[in-house]
Amino acid sequence: MISEETIARVRESVNLVEVVRETVPNLKKSGRNYVARCPFHQERTPSFSVNTEMGVFKCFGCGVGGDAFKFVMLTEGLTYPEAIRKLATRVGITIEEARSEAVSAAEKERQVLYGLLEDAARFYHRHLLESAEARPAREYLEKRGLSQESLVKFQIGFAPSSGQALREAAGRKGWSIETLEKAGLLRRKEGTGHVFDHFWSRIMFPIWDTQGRIIAFGGRAMGEALPKYINSPETPVYSKSRHLYGLFQGLPSLRKQRHVVILEGYMDVAMCHQYGFETTAATLGTALTEEHVRLLRRYAENVTLLFDPDTAGANATLRGGELLIEEGFQVRVVTLPDGQDADEVLVREGREALEGHIAQSVSFIDYCMAGALRRHPGLAPETKLAVAKEVLPLIRKIKDPLLQDEHLTRLAEAIKADKAILGQQMVKGVPSGRPGRQELSKATVVPFPPERRGVLLSLEEEILLLALLYPSEAVAENLETLAWRDARCAEVWKAIAGPVSDGAVRLGDVLPKLSESTQAWLTPLALQQRSYGAPLDRLYEFLESWRRQQASNELRDLQSEIDSMIEGRIPMDSRKIQNYNELSRRLKGSKILPREAPFHG
Ligand code: GTP
Ligand code: MN
Repeated sequence: MISEETIARVRESVNLVEVVRETVPNLKKSGRNYVARCPFHQERTPSFSVNTEMGVFKCFGCGVGGDAFKFVMLTEGLTYPEAIRKLATRVGITIEEARSEAVSAAEKERQVLYGLLEDAARFYHRHLLESAEARPAREYLEKRGLSQESLVKFQIGFAPSSGQALREAAGRKGWSIETLEKAGLLRRKEGTGHVFDHFWSRIMFPIWDTQGRIIAFGGRAMGEALPKYINSPETPVYSKSRHLYGLFQGLPSLRKQRHVVILEGYMDVAMCHQYGFETTAATLGTALTEEHVRLLRRYAENVTLLFDPDTAGANATLRGGELLIEEGFQVRVVTLPDGQDADEVLVREGREALEGHIAQSVSFIDYCMAGALRRHPGLAPETKLAVAKEVLPLIRKIKDPLLQDEHLTRLAEAIKADKAILGQQMVKGVPSGRPGRQELSKATVVPFPPERRGVLLSLEEEILLLALLYPSEAVAENLETLAWRDARCAEVWKAIAGPVSDGAVRLGDVLPKLSESTQAWLTPLALQQRSYGAPLDRLYEFLESWRRQQASNELRDLQSEIDSMIEGRIPMDSRKIQNYNELSRRLKGSKILPREAPFHG
């Protein structure tokens, strides 16, 4: 714990303008404040301001603000205590060490592990560069196209094949077996208790945290040996769900661009750097987690997902993309040609090729919509519904209202549905509160409320809306004898039949005649703006569909009655059988036909 007194001393000693200027070099004096374009969001005119007297910054565009600690937390991705320590060092204040024993013990242990892991990385790296044993590894890496500079930048190494070398070298430097084990560098054989190096005969990729400390390794087998990768186990300093490979090396560029490309592998990141794409990071053999997303939040607003073009990659894209849009990221997706990853594209075709693929990225929602449309082709009502059910819950999660609206428009266009209704469904369709993550694994199907099942608007709602939008004598005549199945529609029709026939319906006059619940249901419906083209033709189509539905319902009822007759539970009624045969003939060829007819021949 750092005392409040020390924190206050650091805060007073720090010059916020100087601190900010390191990240925002063109900070300009303006009156008593300093202003610049905000480093936390894209803008043309400066809304970011630093008040030196109060020691605070504030952006009037995106709302972010705070003191010097907050600023370095945001720009450098530090925790609060880390930010205090960093600024304390800067102004030469020593922080008296923690009073709480427990905290300091855990922290001390971590410090020890960082030291050991650093040593181990140096050992592996030197071994790769210098040892005779590592010659095939050097040749392999060269063949893969990794430059000497990249080997150094990522401190790539080689773990000797003896299975003892690291332990022996570390032992000579005074590292204990326990510490090596805690750092995930040693394994203990079950039973015998015999210890051996966790990594041997592998190309070693050190993994850094965002503060530049080595926290783990990924080890790639040479050639085709399996498993292809072995990673460090979870340790007090490393968790694969919290860390991203290459983020640290990308930070200087990332702070400027605030856009990160997420890749799948170590090689992809190293190669991307080599070809000048520095704002990249890779998940460590796991899907993107909420913790990853929170980590990225500190550095970027824009994320491009570039996963391998296989099923695992597609799933990772769906899961990761959803998490990211929930956190307000703008998410795009790049799909590479079959069987290639970023590394291969770069090596085979060069920088422009990868740039080209990235330029062809699509927004995450468009990506999902395209997938849904592929899986549910055509414009049958059920198909449209299926697409809407997949895509609406995702659109719902978009934080930016303008962007959300834009995607709603696109969905409406893609499935030729009414945008306002889709919007309504989007709001209603998902249970309130934060929906569970399982949702997506079930193809993002969120049940619509029962009364909306079947089509986006029920047929009778559609008919009623048409009557409200295009009142005329002809419309009224056609609806005069309709036996509405939906009681609310029947109630409304009774109230509007006269006005429709007169050619003018005023909602204000109609609503008072209705029950409260019907009013609440009708109001949003009546406010739909739909265009029905030639309304009378549409009405005939609707009525025809209505009759088919009706016949289908009757047929189903008849069928169960006939089933009972056959089972002898009710007396035979030949009139009903005749009815049934006639109805099914009329519906023949229609998809609405229920199960097979009970009688053959
Ligand atoms: P190269 O084949 O050398 O280009 O590696 P790659 O990074 O392209 O490998 P791949 O696309 O097969 O895997 C992507 C990432 O998944 C790797 O970087 C690892 O983090 C992880 N991974 C792949 N295979 C394994 C494995 O066998 N075990 C574990 N734990 N992780 C793996
Ligand atoms: Mn690869």
